[in-house]
Amino acid sequence: MHRETILFLLVVIIMGNSLMTAALDPKPTEQANLPQRPVLQPKETVPVTGNYVLKDPTGTSCIKLSMGVEYVVIEKKKPSYFNLDPTTTKTTGRCADKESVLSLAFLGKGGDLNLTFEKEGNLTYVSKITGHLAPGKGMKNYSGVIEHEKLFPTAAGRSLKCYSQTEFHLSENLRVKIVSLQFQAFKLTNGNFGEEVECRADFIQKIIPIIFGATVVGLLLIAVLSFLIIRDHHRQAGYDRI
Ligand SMILES: *[C@@H]1O[C@H](CO)[C@@H](O)[C@H](O)[C@H]1NC(C)=O
Ligand SMILES: *[C@@H]1O[C@H](CO)[C@@H](O)[C@H](O)[C@H]1NC(C)=O
Ligand SMILES: *[C@@H]1O[C@H](CO)[C@@H](O)[C@H](O)[C@H]1NC(C)=O
Repeated sequence: MHRETILFLLVVIIMGNSLMTAALDPKPTEQANLPQRPVLQPKETVPVTGNYVLKDPTGTSCIKLSMGVEYVVIEKKKPSYFNLDPTTTKTTGRCADKESVLSLAFLGKGGDLNLTFEKEGNLTYVSKITGHLAPGKGMKNYSGVIEHEKLFPTAAGRSLKCYSQTEFHLSENLRVKIVSLQFQAFKLTNGNFGEEVECRADFIQKIIPIIFGATVVGLLLIAVLSFLIIRDHHRQAGYDRI
């Protein structure tokens, strides 16, 4: 046989072989089935706002909520970040008259964020936040809780709106930041948000420039008045001294 023919046959055999192994190789499908895990990022980015609705067994909404969520993991004083992706987040929970729990589970077993809403008379608020983050790949899990709180108090039938970022220290190593929040719990009319109530942080953010402006104007007035008074005083006293 010619050298070329042998070479050609070799190439054909090798190619055929690798095609066969590629087709039979179970690895790619196995990888696709691997549960995804949260990947911590060294840099902070603004989380995407997700819309979540929890319904009772009759199909009536008991919690409607939109927000962006960022987890902050602190390890050896160095923070890293994970933003919750609404497209891979599953909403579950339970609705009751006085206490409802919204559970957001992400990336299979990658972690969750549970919010407990309570109703006291006409007041609704968030009483408890639990967070869990399982980055996998030999990394340790992070979890934490804050409870017995009265966060985001709102009158029943109204929705609370909070553009400002709120940060919660769930444990020494785990924090969660919530941005662009709007929610309503227990009483929703046709599953829609009711009249909006502004959170305190937003109110303060809005009022700070006004206070600052007023302060600057006030200080300027004082400065001008002092200058005029001192000038007048000097004018009267000045000649006496000479
Ligand atoms: C959050 O709620 C889900 C569903 O009720 C539960 O399986 C999970 O353990 C809860 N997570 C935490 C950290 O409590
Ligand atoms: C709740 O609000 C309704 C009307 O807004 C009022 O009639 C009722 O007395 C309130 N109940 C409580 C417990 O404050
Ligand atoms: C972290 O949590 C996952 C489930 O969310 C579990 O499968 C895994 O064993 C945990 N890892 C450690 C180190 O505790």
